This record gives sequence, C-alpha cells and structure tokens, in this order.
Amino acid sequence: MNFLGWAASIQQRTEVALELALPPSHISPTRLHDAMRYAVLGGGKRVRPLLCHATGDLFKATLHSLDMAAIATELIHAYSLIHDDLPCMDNDVLRRGKPTCHIEFDEVTALLAGDALQALAFHVLSSHSLDVDLSHQLDMLNLLATASGSRGMAGGQALDIASTNQQLTIAELELMHIHKTGALIRAAVLLGAHCGKATSSELDQLSHFATRLGLLFQIIDDILDIESDTATLGKTAGKDVAQNKSTYVSLLGKTQAKELAVCLLHESHAALSSFGDRALRLHELTDFIAERNF
Ligand code: IPE
Ligand code: IPE
Ligand code: MG
Ligand code: MG
Ligand code: MG
Repeated sequence: MNFLGWAASIQQRTEVALELALPPSHISPTRLHDAMRYAVLGGGKRVRPLLCHATGDLFKATLHSLDMAAIATELIHAYSLIHDDLPCMDNDVLRRGKPTCHIEFDEVTALLAGDALQALAFHVLSSHSLDVDLSHQLDMLNLLATASGSRGMAGGQALDIASTNQQLTIAELELMHIHKTGALIRAAVLLGAHCGKATSSELDQLSHFATRLGLLFQIIDDILDIESDTATLGKTAGKDVAQNKSTYVSLLGKTQAKELAVCLLHESHAALSSFGDRALRLHELTDFIAERNF
C-alpha cells in the first residue's frame, strides 16, 4: 500500500475509534457531549495517531492497542486546541475550517469540553481491554500524563503565553516548542512503541527522533502561519505576527527558519537509521510533516 492509502486507512480507523469512545450526543449533559464531539470528529490531519500506528508497526503491535493509544493522544491534542483557541489564550475563531468550540458553543462549554476530553484520554488508555502487559500500560499512562502536564504540553503553553511580546533566546524558544508541541508528538511515537515490545535502546532512539520531529512540526506550523492562507489552513493565518508571538520566524526570519527546518528533517531521518527499511512509514510521515501545506 502506498503512503497516502495507508494514511487514509489509519485516519478512517481513528475516526471510528474516536466516534465509539466519545459519549453520544443524546446522553446528558448533551451540550457538553455535543461540544466534545464537535471538536474531535471530522477534522484534523490526525498526525499523532499516524505516528502512533507507524511506530507500533515497527514492533508488530496489535491494531486494537494502537487504536487506543492513538486516540488517547488525539483526545489530548483536541483538548489542547480547544483551550489554545480560547479568548484568554490565542483568541481564535476558526479551527479545522469551522468556528472554534467557544464560538460554536460558549466559553464555559469549551473549557469543560477540553477538561472532559483530557479525562477521556486517560479513561481510554487505562481500559482493561488494552492488550498490553499491565506494567507497560502503567508506563504508557505515566508517559501520557507527563507529556500533557506542566512538564509537557501545558507547560509549553505557559511558556508560549509568557513569551508573547518578549524577545526569547534560541534556547528558550526551542524549549517552548519542544514542550508545547514536541511532548505530545513524542508521546504518540513512544506509546506506539510501548504497544509492541521495543527495547530500551530502541525507545531512546525513537525518543530522539520524535524530539527532532516535534520541533520540526512546530517550525513548519510557524512558517505556514505567515506563508499560507486561512482557507488552506482552516485556521486564521497571520495570527502569530498579529499577536506578537515568539516563533522561529519572528526570531530568525523566514529564510533561516526554513534552513533550520531542513536541518531538522535530516536529523529526524538520521535518527531512524538503525531501524532500516522497517521504518519506511515513519520516514514517509516525516516527509509529510515537513512538506505539508496545512
Ligand atoms: C496544530 O496541530 C497545533 C500545533 C500543535 C502546532 P495540527 O497541525 O496537528 O492540527 P490538526 O490536528 O491537523 O488540526
Ligand atoms: C498550539 O500552538 C500548540 C498547542 C495547542 C499545544 P499554536 O497556537 O501555534 O497552534 P495553532 O497555530 O493555533 O494551531
Ligand atoms: Mg498557541
Ligand atoms: Mg493557536
Ligand atoms: Mg500556530
């Protein structure tokens, strides 16, 4: 199967798994459940689920465990986007080509939908039906908790807000990106590996790969914010400059930010070298992340 066919099949099974995991709209509190479903279903590139499956593939993990790990990561991601768009953060009105959750519903509902999606992610990952060893499952829960919290995504978002209107050093910017975006990308990769039987040295190599890839992912997001348009992105273009956000583009300029992205692309591929041809999907996904236009 070629890459696009494979990606479509993973996106399709991710959609089905998310649909099954989310509470149905007709169950009370219906407005909250509607908002959760609105923010999660029918949109997004599903990059984290793709990473989870592509990594799990290396270790012959079962599709069921990968589906659960994939949607747990995607649920945290969807929650982070709802909160990222709130007026107190980036104050965005468009996400995945639709009004943001707080615009379609209201701020209180959006806040709670984010909270509930975070809890749902851990509910899914702690399920008895996950067919991995219990000790592995505990490691996976620990990993996702760290990646989501103050030493991961939420911490990175705090740095992002604190650095608005500030001039950061490159090291500070890298730290912010690695946390706000890199942490969940790394969790997606490592959860996929934990669904199979990766050795600790393989986990180390994948962790290095995912850290470079996470940085690359956010730099491309920052470049697209100035180079692309709202219709293509499905979210408001030009927001980073308008809000005086600290990004690689604002610090280095577009040309140097692009050079750094090329460098990170090479580093990401190189980090997979010991896996040989087995890592084909991860290589393809890395190129997809670097070349994407939304
Ligand atoms: C956007 O993430 C927010 C960042 C972490 C940069 P994605 O580009 O993965 O958004 P979706 O899921 O495809 O909408
Ligand atoms: C968001 O980064 C990162 C998280 C949601 C954790 P951005 O603020 O750059 O994401 P977009 O551009 O709004 O998607
Ligand atoms: Mg933001
Ligand atoms: Mg934002
Ligand atoms: Mg952005």
